[in-house]
Amino acid sequence: MKVGVPKEIKTEEYRVAITPSGVEELVKRGHTVYVQKDAGLGSGISNEEYEKAGATILETLKDVYDAAEMIVKVKEPQPEEFELLREGQILFTYLHLAADENLTRKLMERKIIGIAYETVELDDGSLPLLIPMSEIAGRMAPQEGAKYLEKPFGGRGVLLGGVPGVPPAKVVILGGGTVGMNAAIIAAGMGADVTILDINIPRLRYLSEVMPANVKTLYSSRYNLRESIKDADLLISAVLIHGAKAPKLIDRELLSEMKDGSVFVDVAIDQGGSSDTSRPTTHRDPVYKVDNVIHYCVANMPGAVPRTSTFALTNSTIKYVVKLADLGWPDAVLNDPALYRGVNLYRGYITYKAVAEAFGLEYTPLDELLRAESEGMEI
Ligand SMILES: NC(=O)c1ccc[n+]([C@@H]2O[C@H](COP(=O)([O-])OP(=O)(O)OC[C@H]3O[C@@H](n4cnc5c(N)ncnc54)[C@H](O)[C@@H]3O)[C@@H](O)[C@H]2O)c1
Repeated sequence: MKVGVPKEIKTEEYRVAITPSGVEELVKRGHTVYVQKDAGLGSGISNEEYEKAGATILETLKDVYDAAEMIVKVKEPQPEEFELLREGQILFTYLHLAADENLTRKLMERKIIGIAYETVELDDGSLPLLIPMSEIAGRMAPQEGAKYLEKPFGGRGVLLGGVPGVPPAKVVILGGGTVGMNAAIIAAGMGADVTILDINIPRLRYLSEVMPANVKTLYSSRYNLRESIKDADLLISAVLIHGAKAPKLIDRELLSEMKDGSVFVDVAIDQGGSSDTSRPTTHRDPVYKVDNVIHYCVANMPGAVPRTSTFALTNSTIKYVVKLADLGWPDAVLNDPALYRGVNLYRGYITYKAVAEAFGLEYTPLDELLRAESEGMEI
């Protein structure tokens, strides 16, 4: 198959969808990989590295779209990419269609096959192409929190790990899923006194078994949350209710219990945030203060560490890219239920229920369309 990897053009997006190792894997199997010139520079990967791995470097975005049967990207296509997509072309990337009706309609018009990273779902309900980004955001949260606790950045002037004779900082983590657990690992490693709150008791049981001694677990109730954030130096929110907006667990009254100069990292901001006081910020201007609590609410935290993020993402995506290239459409998705669940759009039809429901549009199950096609019907 001819696989195309464009340079990402969304603002402040430095990741790239394939690394030289992925190129080598595809080329070894007889596929052709077209990489747009400088696509890897933001992640520290040169054109020469891609060429050495067997890729063909193409000059422009249009060259890549024209040459490829499958486009592999990181972010959703931008307006200048819409017209470059053509009927029957496979697009494999983060799409987040339910959040963008215009994008959904534009991609329907282009009659592409849209497979979304974020809806590739294993049988146990886990999302293998979202987990790596949660791991990164989780590990970044204490690092960012530690920075803004420093006096010159406006914080209380507390060192996360303390020193002998001076106690460490108190870190409270709300939600003990992927983000929360990774945040706890780093905060604990830096020597902080960590508490994780969650409502899922089996999860708390697991965390208390695997976490080091400076991590405690606590059932998440408003009462317990209030008691713990009173003397927290750093609060990290990592809550998620699948498929829903983040629950607003922290209101102004609770926030007013926090100490002056303490830091609140709301990782859940990409789902709307967990506090009335949270609003999305960017890496250029990441923090603001409310009631003397520093809020860090960057909605794309992994974007700050593109080199790590690119490798983490592609480690997980490559096996699906290889499968799509090896087996082609539709065998690749028929052979892999997780990939099948990733199909959001097929030749102008919406094949993912939640996307159709988000805009009151018609949902057509993919198997119906494939059956009709195999019976020679026009769809
Ligand atoms: N800002 C970013 O750059 C960025 C990057 C990656 C992920 N995220 C976001 O981080 C959030 C967490 O993601 P995740 O992968 O860890 O999800 P996850 O599903 O693995 O974990 C969420 C946890 O929240 C817990 N929870 C639900 N309601 C709760 C409550 N009332 N009190 C305490 N805990 C509660 C759940 O039991 C679960 O353990 C999501 O909103 C995700 O979109 C943000």
